Amino acid sequence: MKSEAAENAGLNPSKLPSHVAVIMDGNGRWAKKRVLNRVKGHERGADTVRMVVRASREIGIRYLTLYAFSTENWQRPETEISALMTLLKRFLTSETRELAENNIRLNIIGEIERLPEDVQQVLEQTAEATRENDGMCLTLALSYGGRAEIAMAARAMAEAVKDGRIAPEDVGQENFAKYMYTSGMPDPELLIRTSGEFRVSNFLLWQIAYAEIFVTPTLWPDFTREEYYNILKNFQERERRFGRVPS
Ligand code: IPE
Ligand code: IPE
Ligand code: MG
Repeated sequence: MKSEAAENAGLNPSKLPSHVAVIMDGNGRWAKKRVLNRVKGHERGADTVRMVVRASREIGIRYLTLYAFSTENWQRPETEISALMTLLKRFLTSETRELAENNIRLNIIGEIERLPEDVQQVLEQTAEATRENDGMCLTLALSYGGRAEIAMAARAMAEAVKDGRIAPEDVGQENFAKYMYTSGMPDPELLIRTSGEFRVSNFLLWQIAYAEIFVTPTLWPDFTREEYYNILKNFQERERRFGRVPS
């Protein structure tokens, strides 16, 4: 079924990235172009989230990670932050059923404890309700920062060494990855950023070491399924060398 959907989209099902990460950017500019409040852009952005989740699930992407709110985004005006939190709650409540029906597990990464209590509650409920699902893992990065994550993992490892649970010589790349939020997940093979900015904005710094990067000028609310599949096609045409000579 899934490989058929991938083929229908012009994709090779055996060469799909197992993990796609997306920096969803450009909601504010989308609204500004239309002389609308930035919040309207975020609302339309939520529709694109629905589309990307569905489109990924249909063709058989195993892990989809979306950057929804960064540690730096706390510096935005209070009104925008609270609108984003309300939107997030509404999104989770309305999507729980669809996630369940499509066998999608919700996973959250980031400093969740900084989010408002009510948002934390809905997140926990949705994660709990979808815990057993193994069709696709949808990860939302919320109050997330790559450097904060690396520091958190280093701290946890230092504690483990101090308590004698691990030895200093156990601190290596593989073990380190186990202390990250993304423990157990494959690294993203494809990183997409919308709105034309050529930067990673503190997203998954450790995990994107060898990700293929695709930047599109399209603003997030305008991002379509067709464009998404075209990016995946482009990914499949790239030669990933990992430092070796071409085969
Ligand atoms: C991305 O859109 C959504 C979040 C960061 C929450 P922006 O709000 O950054 O939109 P621009 O970059 O101002 O257009
Ligand atoms: C990155 O977008 C963060 C998210 C998409 C959540 P920003 O709009 O916050 O990033 P900068 O300011 O362009 O680096
Ligand atoms: Mg932005």
